[in-house]
Amino acid sequence: MKRMFVVAGTLILGAGAVMAQQEVAVQQDNLMRSQAKSMYGVILKMTKGDIPYNQKQVDEAIASLEADVAKIAKTFEVNPKQDVVNATYGSSPKVWQQKADFESKIPPVQKAIADVKGKIHNVASLKAAYTTINDRCNDCHETYRLKLK
Ligand code: HEC
Repeated sequence: MKRMFVVAGTLILGAGAVMAQQEVAVQQDNLMRSQAKSMYGVILKMTKGDIPYNQKQVDEAIASLEADVAKIAKTFEVNPKQDVVNATYGSSPKVWQQKADFESKIPPVQKAIADVKGKIHNVASLKAAYTTINDRCNDCHETYRLKLK
């Protein structure tokens, strides 16, 4: 009887660890999705004319991006060793095998944001800003993001 309790306890602990890992993966994914919301949901749509140019929305998107990018290193500190259920993209194990190189991809994004901040005043400058920032996002995705499906 005593032994059964121990086994059950171990199983529960195991399930807890799996859940925590999924939570970490979800947090990482949510951070990327939040960046995507600013970049694609606002900035890209405006450059295409899908939504009208709006200075306040642009400034907010840039500020939100700036805040999100600053959280990448900390959010990806722990390797969840699993992907978000049903996700299209996942992290390469390389993120945690070569952490210093992964983190070296963050400052260039921050620099790109700083370079365009306060200088976007119309669709033309927004387009240029989009490319400047997005190229740096991709520099990390190239190596560290995996397409799962
Ligand atoms: C330092 C590396 C790094 C940088 C910089 C980075 N990303 Fe990512 N991104 C990742 C990794 C790793 C994944 C895959 C894991 C995930 O989805 O959480 C990812 C996933 C994504 C996804 C897919 C999310 C999904 O599952 O649908 C989007 C969208 C995304 N990133 C947008 C951006 C944008 C926009 C920027 C630039 C502002 C950016 N990322 C900058 C590493 C990075």
